[in-house]
Amino acid sequence: MPLVVPHATGRYTVAADALDRLGAYLPDTGIAPGPCLVVTDETVQRLHGDRLRGVLDVLGFAPRVLAVPPGESAKSLAQLGALYDAALSSDGPKVNRQTAVFAFGGGVMGDLGGFFAATLLRGLPLVQLPTTLLAQVDSSLGGKTGINHATGKNLIGAFYPPRLVLADPAVLQTLPPRELASGLAEAVKHALIADAALVMFFEEQLDNALAGDPAVLAETVARAQRIKAEVVIEDEFETGRRAHLNFGHTFAHALERATGFNPAVLTHGEAVAVGMRCALRLSKALAPHLDAERLDALVARLPVPPLPPLDVDDLMAAMQGDKKRGAEGLRFVVLEDVGRAAVVQGVPDALVRDAWTAALG
Ligand SMILES: NC(=O)c1ccc[n+]([C@@H]2O[C@H](COP(=O)([O-])OP(=O)(O)OC[C@H]3O[C@@H](n4cnc5c(N)ncnc54)[C@H](O)[C@@H]3O)[C@@H](O)[C@H]2O)c1
Ligand SMILES: [Zn+2]
Repeated sequence: MPLVVPHATGRYTVAADALDRLGAYLPDTGIAPGPCLVVTDETVQRLHGDRLRGVLDVLGFAPRVLAVPPGESAKSLAQLGALYDAALSSDGPKVNRQTAVFAFGGGVMGDLGGFFAATLLRGLPLVQLPTTLLAQVDSSLGGKTGINHATGKNLIGAFYPPRLVLADPAVLQTLPPRELASGLAEAVKHALIADAALVMFFEEQLDNALAGDPAVLAETVARAQRIKAEVVIEDEFETGRRAHLNFGHTFAHALERATGFNPAVLTHGEAVAVGMRCALRLSKALAPHLDAERLDALVARLPVPPLPPLDVDDLMAAMQGDKKRGAEGLRFVVLEDVGRAAVVQGVPDALVRDAWTAALG
């Protein structure tokens, strides 16, 4: 059953289904076949571009593919400008308010293509076609779009809901293992904060998911999408429960900062895996009845490369700069129980240090 996410100005469907089924979802989007734009990266275009073009051709679209280099650096004003230039250049059909934008790729394409769609002609209809596990279970849902600035990540952007999110788990078969594991870290996080049954599913199936088992990945996408959808339905503009999605992330961001935001050393998902182990230790200190050992055993199965030597003082300092810092000191998302999270303020430094030491031990 596809999910429907209502929002301030409408609603959109979220589905885990084959790309070839796009036509079944379009009538609900208000998007009619015609000239359209596909924003993608060169890797995704090479691996899956022909397949999408085939689907769009059959439906009567005339796609123009705008492919940017892969990687986080594409979330820049320069690449955004290049997209505007390409879309508005005189060759090809003129872009108008009905021209649909298909953001086809990982979270980088969802954010860049989404912001492009949000801003060109003050907003074009947007379809998210996420192709990484992270994008399928997390970034494609919730309407956050944007680019980076030299001074920080995601500083320029807009809430801009798509008309449709269609995640085809089959495209995950070409994903590099580290990208798959990184997405699984976020999916496990969704389970920990919201869904005790999904925690049990991962206890049984995580190794199969890491090995790329298609059926397990399809179920993972469908179940984890549902959690993210439920959270953003409850809290569209991130004033409350959406913060729970940051479980493990205050620690993860400090690790990413300490390792130079270099995914070759540590991907975001790997940092989240370590961060969740810290957050579980902290949770145990604040909620002694929590079976943190059981959950830690699950999170510890997510592969993380050997970390470079890290100093707890440096990590503590890196945390002070985190934008999630509230007025009353550091804020953390902790688990009160399996599948139930809470935000806590003013956590004593000694507990945070202990959490680092335990996880990096
Ligand atoms: N908007 C949100 O709510 C939100 C939430 C979380 C993260 N994000 C953003 O998401 C981004 C990270 O997303 P990501 O991890 O998907 O990175 P990404 O988009 O860079 O994709 C990772 C790599 O995988 C490649 N790739 C994509 N799909 C593939 C496939 N099917 N087969 C083989 N290779 C494939 C890409 O070319 C890229 O090299 C960050 O910029 C982050 O800020 C946004
Ligand atoms: Zn994350």
